[in-house]
Amino acid sequence: MEKYVIHGGKPLHGEVEISGAKNAAVAIIPAALMVHGVCRLENLPEISDTDTLLRILTYLGAKVNMINRSTVELDCTHVQMDLIPDQMWDMTRRIRASYYLIGAMLGRFGRARTTMPGGCNFGIRPIDQHIKGLTALGADVTLSGGFICANARDGHLHGRTIYLDKVSVGATINIMIAAVTAEGRTVIENVAREPHIVDLANFLNSMGADVRGAGTDVIKIRGVKQLHGGSYALIPDQIEAGTYMAAVAAAGGSIRVSNIIPKHLEGISSKLQEMNVEVEEGDDYVLVRRDGPLHNANIKTKPYPGFPTDMQPQMTAVLCCAPGVSVVTEAVWSSGRFKYVAELNKMGAHIEVEDQSAFIQGVDSLTGATVRACDLRAGAAMVIAGLAAQGVTQIEDVLYIERGYQDIVGKFRALGADIRCIDEPEEPARGWNAG
Ligand code: UD1
Repeated sequence: MEKYVIHGGKPLHGEVEISGAKNAAVAIIPAALMVHGVCRLENLPEISDTDTLLRILTYLGAKVNMINRSTVELDCTHVQMDLIPDQMWDMTRRIRASYYLIGAMLGRFGRARTTMPGGCNFGIRPIDQHIKGLTALGADVTLSGGFICANARDGHLHGRTIYLDKVSVGATINIMIAAVTAEGRTVIENVAREPHIVDLANFLNSMGADVRGAGTDVIKIRGVKQLHGGSYALIPDQIEAGTYMAAVAAAGGSIRVSNIIPKHLEGISSKLQEMNVEVEEGDDYVLVRRDGPLHNANIKTKPYPGFPTDMQPQMTAVLCCAPGVSVVTEAVWSSGRFKYVAELNKMGAHIEVEDQSAFIQGVDSLTGATVRACDLRAGAAMVIAGLAAQGVTQIEDVLYIERGYQDIVGKFRALGADIRCIDEPEEPARGWNAG
């Protein structure tokens, strides 16, 4: 079992290059199923979630050609499978984004069947808005025995106006993918506005789709017959960048975070500035520096352009050592997203969760302990806490972290952190014959 071991208390210095956006990649790879021709994707992050999706497409019959670590050529022209075969169920159950295969297969073949998705466990993660949208486009969608089945009633989809009752990144993406080749015009109202929604729309348009309005709360799609091949470079990862910024806030030091779009980080940058962290924007980088004491702050997560829920655990880790009381309120997910708080408390933090809020009483310093990554971003929060803490922190279940952060150990080491990944054999089960 792999673990991270961190000797904390060292400020960070140097430069970190941000990889392509995970949440854009996990939408764009399934969307490539809609493309007839070779689709070249650049700035793809090298993480286990993208690897899983590329394996699934390969199994379905796509040609996947890795050009280098961040560039892939995908050709789904000859894919004919409209269901995910049982050999792939393990993989589709492992990640959240596997449900985008439903939108893509339904759009392309008029039929789709896969398992219910997996992904981080923040409590209940309903998909009623995905079903509402796909049903409105003319599909019968059924959920049964852990599977999702969708069939276009007359063989293909028809454009409609759909109002999302809840702002949902996943439902916006799934409906957008399915609608690009639906007959006529689709209007999706009350959609999510995250940067990766805009990135998916730009990708689809560069392959011949007609999607307008991404980035606002109404997306309009005029259906086209078929998408064609092309080349597309993904946006940088807003949350990966925010994680390194938060790490400097917690551990101190001064770093340059490069290959980013500073506009996407505005919510994170201004919160860090409120916490006495200097953030200076360049064209495609930010300089982040913290050498004075942290100030406490209150944070409430919201859909973009509000404060991202995927930065909530990392910011809670930073606020552990801000004098006074800080309140972090989770308004996108349930309080199930605060499971990691118990791990921070093992490191000497004083945090209590009540309803949807974490009340953080700042302490002088954290102390190293053995903790686990409860999910992807919670795992990143443990790394940040470990870097700031005095002594040694061991983080277990790091597989979650590697689902979404490219070479997190290498990148932090390059910033001067004392972090390494060790592979420890699991303890053998003790039985009667144990020596
Ligand atoms: C995506 C991100 C995840 C991030 C989240 C919010 C991916 C792979 N994951 O997840 O990292 O935390 O956006 O920024 O991109 N909801 C419903 N019905 C639905 C769908 C969602 O009620 O059909 C609710 C959810 O329970 C949640 C809220 O809407 O309370 C937001 O969920 P959504 O935006 O869909 O998140 P995901 O797409 O699953």
